[in-house]
Amino acid sequence: MIEILVLHGPNLNLLGWREPEIYGKMTLTEIDQMLVEEGKKLGLDVRSRQSNSEGILIDILQEAATWAAGVIFNPGGYTHTSIALRDTISAIAIPVIEVHLSNVYAREEFRHHSTISAVCAGKIVGFGWRSYWLALQALAGRLQDAPKTR
Ligand code: DQA
Repeated sequence: MIEILVLHGPNLNLLGWREPEIYGKMTLTEIDQMLVEEGKKLGLDVRSRQSNSEGILIDILQEAATWAAGVIFNPGGYTHTSIALRDTISAIAIPVIEVHLSNVYAREEFRHHSTISAVCAGKIVGFGWRSYWLALQALAGRLQDAPKTR
């Protein structure tokens, strides 16, 4: 089975009751379960992690390069500020797909810029929990086309 990391950044552990009108009512556990089930259908072994700490997210990404074929990553607020996360994604030779639940382009201007988009394989925004679902389909397809990207 091809192994995939789903990585969630700060405050995403609060999903379900954090501004549900923006982020939806699904909890992070429910999203992770959905991805595990969908992954099985696609022949992917999906493992999920969440951290509120930039350094821990970096450690997890560096380690993922040793076992994962690809990463689905929602960096939360670090999307708009973190050069360090960008450098990590740039350094690891596995595809990373950037994901956002909300349509960041329809929100405050500071959310329009992402430090990581240019070093990601692609990006999906604005579809709520389905952004993750779509990212999984995209990553599965990409890995089928080019399974040996690292
Ligand atoms: C988010 C968008 C970010 O701007 C915000 O800081 C988040 C969540 C999203 O999934 O829509 O924490 O990444």
